[in-house]
Amino acid sequence: MSNRTFLVTGGAGFIGSHLVERLLARGDAVVVLDDFSTGRRGNLVGVERNARFEFVEGSVTDAALVERLVARCDEILHLAAVVGVRLVVEQPIRTMETNVRGTETVVTAAARHRRPLLVTSSSEVYGRGTRIPFREDDPVVHGAPTRTRWVYAASKLAAEHLALAHHREDGIAVRIVRFFNTCGPRQVGDFGMVLPRFVDQALAGGPVTIHGDGRQTRSFCHVADAVEAVLRVMAAPDAIGRPVNIGGTVETSVNELAQRVVAAVTGTDPRAERRVEIVRIPHVVAYGDGFDDPVRRVPDVSLLRELTAFVPSRPLGELIADAVRWAREVQACVAAGPPCREPRGLTA
Ligand SMILES: NC(=O)c1ccc[n+]([C@@H]2O[C@H](COP(=O)([O-])OP(=O)(O)OC[C@H]3O[C@@H](n4cnc5c(N)ncnc54)[C@H](O)[C@@H]3O)[C@@H](O)[C@H]2O)c1
Repeated sequence: MSNRTFLVTGGAGFIGSHLVERLLARGDAVVVLDDFSTGRRGNLVGVERNARFEFVEGSVTDAALVERLVARCDEILHLAAVVGVRLVVEQPIRTMETNVRGTETVVTAAARHRRPLLVTSSSEVYGRGTRIPFREDDPVVHGAPTRTRWVYAASKLAAEHLALAHHREDGIAVRIVRFFNTCGPRQVGDFGMVLPRFVDQALAGGPVTIHGDGRQTRSFCHVADAVEAVLRVMAAPDAIGRPVNIGGTVETSVNELAQRVVAAVTGTDPRAERRVEIVRIPHVVAYGDGFDDPVRRVPDVSLLRELTAFVPSRPLGELIADAVRWAREVQACVAAGPPCREPRGLTA
């Protein structure tokens, strides 16, 4: 228990809300700053009555507000960002403004008040890198800027550079984590995340839509493992000043993911004798011309292991089961109507 006050930007989001719960559970106080653009009040149902929790609705691009909040917190966890392939492709200006200017606002305030800061980055920064698994000191290779998808990777890389620049010049403690395809309860499929999209489509009876030929691979990580890793990185002195990968190490093709989601959904529904169809559509149909999809994405987690003695290990089956269970609870909740509150997600 550390009894400190943490500012969590993006704390009403998927990963942020799980992190907030863990911080409160160990006795810390938490101030969340979120503009609800992709986050939801429902994600914070389990903590909103906690006396050590405070919610502030606003944007990380509001320098005066960020300054005030940073001044009264001990540590900063910066998760607020425009996330999700669909959002990024549709709103590249907002992506750059939030992810670069928003990060600059947070990092500048942290530097001024000399607060330790953790910035959440992404496996997307590795771009089209071909050396598998990805190591933190690998060179990054991005697609052409005319391919809109790379806006997110560029914005996250810029965020890393901003944070590291302030670490070097101002001497503040900066930690950076690069998440690889983190999934679980509370992640929604509306913005292009593959697992919740497949779960929603399968629960609706299909078809489950794969973008591309489905042979592209990803390494999925349970949000509970990701949050555990973040808490350990925050406590690791040697994690200061360099990015650290956080992700699962089992490579799974998108085809296999779709099949396992369909099996999880139909296998546990006693009425579902039907088969849910899986179809494939070209990326250009799903996202337009500016799209470019990395073929493989696997983290090297040796640095995480060395720094924290922990690596994500929850199996994909557990991740899919938790995501399906949560989506079913939400469906039941919505069907029941008011005063039903959103389910809390993880029970563990
Ligand atoms: N989920 C993943 O697989 C994954 C992978 C790589 C990196 N990340 C990073 O992890 C962090 C959290 O992502 P997530 O998956 O929980 O997504 P999310 O969309 O659920 O969370 C982002 C949160 O930021 C908030 N936000 C957006 N713009 C804001 C602004 N201007 N001011 C204040 N709040 C704002 C949103 O409302 C949301 O609550 C992000 O920085 C993301 O880039 C996530």
